[in-house]
Amino acid sequence: MLLQVLGTAAGGGLPQWNCACPGCAGARAHPERRRRHAALAVRTGEGRWYLVNATPDLGDQIEATPALHPGAGSDTRRTPVAGVVLTDAELDHTLGLARLREARDGVDVVATPPVRDAVREGLRLDVLLAPYTSVRWRDLPPGLGVPLDGSAGIHAAAVPVSAKRPRYAAGTGPDADTWSVALRLTEAATGRTALYAPALAVWSEAFDEAARTADCVLVDGTFWDDDEPLRAGFSTRTATAMGHLPITGPTGTAHRLARLPGRCLYTHLNNTNPLGDPHAEQHKILTEWGLEAATDGMVIEL
Ligand code: MLT
Ligand code: MN
Ligand code: ZN
Repeated sequence: MLLQVLGTAAGGGLPQWNCACPGCAGARAHPERRRRHAALAVRTGEGRWYLVNATPDLGDQIEATPALHPGAGSDTRRTPVAGVVLTDAELDHTLGLARLREARDGVDVVATPPVRDAVREGLRLDVLLAPYTSVRWRDLPPGLGVPLDGSAGIHAAAVPVSAKRPRYAAGTGPDADTWSVALRLTEAATGRTALYAPALAVWSEAFDEAARTADCVLVDGTFWDDDEPLRAGFSTRTATAMGHLPITGPTGTAHRLARLPGRCLYTHLNNTNPLGDPHAEQHKILTEWGLEAATDGMVIEL
């Protein structure tokens, strides 16, 4: 299985346009610290890829990734981008769908029902895109999941992680644990498995099972510790209350990840997270635990 890390930042990116906190200022002064919104691409066949989440940086993410460039063969408008899988309906994971309006053959979008309905009825992206291209929705079920189009035999399945809905969808849709899911990707031929969870509100039994059986886990690293949002002064809620288990502390994910057999990387880093600075001592702590912070442009071969 081949994965391309397209971005590793939480909403707003690094730097965030209206922020001069140490993390954002550092990324302006040192452009190599910049991080785009968290997203992934998975190869589903020869010259075929699915994007996992469509971020506001989608256009730049495709341009920064030669494997996603169009023009293989004689057809200059042929794109390797075959579709999109959504883990949730948050703006930083869905606004990029509008960037796909030029799609000649329509866009295949795989999502859970609450996420699909929020994008269709809340963001009205289907209505917006209808005069330009067609969006074909497919359900993202738990268990064995659905096959992604391509010869590699990649299946995508949902592992529910949070009932938290986007703020724009407050009061709409069902109460469901499928508002935010981890994505389990499996490759039929090799049995290789990756688990992608840019948001993780609780470490459930189902998530534990999925994590233990994955060759690679890319997980919510929004906040280093639970009080970070309070300390940074941008929220009155802890990381956990915001729907993101912190990396460290008793409720943190690090001690659980450190016990897993697969390779574990953090992604969706908020601009307050010290891991945004590649020289921060927190990277050494991660290394001691056998964990990593993912970086934009990273290629993961399983
Ligand atoms: C999140 O990751 O919790 C969301 O993206 C927050 C938001 O954008 O409001
Ligand atoms: Mn987010
Ligand atoms: Zn900032």
